[in-house]
Amino acid sequence: MKIPAEIVQNLNEQLNRELYAHYLYLVMASYFFERELAGFGAFFLKQSEEEREHAMRLFHYLMEKGATFNPLPIEIPPKNYESPVSCFQLAYEYEQKVTLSYYNLLKKARDLGEYDVEEFLWWYIREQREEEALMQYWLTRTTLVKDNNAGLLLLDKEARKYARKRD
Ligand SMILES: [Fe+2]
Ligand SMILES: [Fe+2]
Repeated sequence: MKIPAEIVQNLNEQLNRELYAHYLYLVMASYFFERELAGFGAFFLKQSEEEREHAMRLFHYLMEKGATFNPLPIEIPPKNYESPVSCFQLAYEYEQKVTLSYYNLLKKARDLGEYDVEEFLWWYIREQREEEALMQYWLTRTTLVKDNNAGLLLLDKEARKYARKRD
């Protein structure tokens, strides 16, 4: 069954949101590498790579369904964060925004009786739950240490371990 054009467009928009996340986390990785906090750098590189995979999953789905891939412009992410906390704050906010966009699309797919699309989207709902929890965890931890350099270096170590664990 062909997916309705409107939903195809929405799936392309989700793909764009994932690519933006890929780009955003790449910028965040650079923010930390440039400050010699390579553990957080590795963490965001890993997240960035995962976001690209999320985009590719959408791409392959579109191809499998004989739908069109529409390239859309990718916004330039902000580069200068005030602190590690504001970086994680932004990441957490973006994840919530993405979650909401998947909720809206899932609702539309269900209302239109597009059950295959709906089933495909559930994977993203679960993934978003994990990613929100992850960013919330790091936001809370970095908020705890704020400007304490010793604390930040400890968390950096922990972040590196986390990034390695998921290789
Ligand atoms: Fe994602
Ligand atoms: Fe994400």
